[in-house]
Amino acid sequence: MYKIADDLVQLGIERIKEFPVEGFVRGSGPLHPALMLVGEAPGENEVETGIPFTGRAGKELMASLESVGLAREDVYITSAVRSRPYKWGSKKERNGTMTERKYNRAPTKKEIIAHAPILDTEIRDIHPPLIVTLGNIGLQRLVGPKAKVTQLHGVLMETPILMWDEDKQAFTETEEVYHIFPTFHPASVFYNPPVRELKDEDWRKLGELLRING
Ligand code: URA
Repeated sequence: MYKIADDLVQLGIERIKEFPVEGFVRGSGPLHPALMLVGEAPGENEVETGIPFTGRAGKELMASLESVGLAREDVYITSAVRSRPYKWGSKKERNGTMTERKYNRAPTKKEIIAHAPILDTEIRDIHPPLIVTLGNIGLQRLVGPKAKVTQLHGVLMETPILMWDEDKQAFTETEEVYHIFPTFHPASVFYNPPVRELKDEDWRKLGELLRING
């Protein structure tokens, strides 16, 4: 198992503490995974279990992995942000009363920058043969804000990736080229059911790719 250094975790907690986020979930998986999955940020469930993708989206993701002959233990799972970004909202209870609760939200650019050194270190240390980005947040973190999953999904990219340069206070491109395979976030099928077919087709193509290169 690969484990990110404790001082880097502390740095991540420190850098993000001014924002409305909670918890910290480490990436998880072996030092030599078949591939690395880069998601968005943990949700309520993950903060509770401390393990990425253990909620409803996780079930969906595990089914996709299984469809290409892989299990959680074979891959390294991480995301752009490692704390849960939340916003307060009200929820109507069955008895009609309103209660305040936290809802998930997408991470902001500042939050992504706060945790950039963590993802950069994971990628440098693990050097995955293939990075599968799940949704726009993971994709844009690595290849830039213009990238759109709807346009790029299901096709292998060979491209430099972005890493955070603390001196320049900017993301800069790596010299090295990485293999990136963009696909949809597993949760997207819950709020946009027609995406399921596209997502499943991406995973079928990914399975082919793994067979060719494996
Ligand atoms: N979405 C993510 O990106 N990561 C998780 O761990 C759960 C949901």
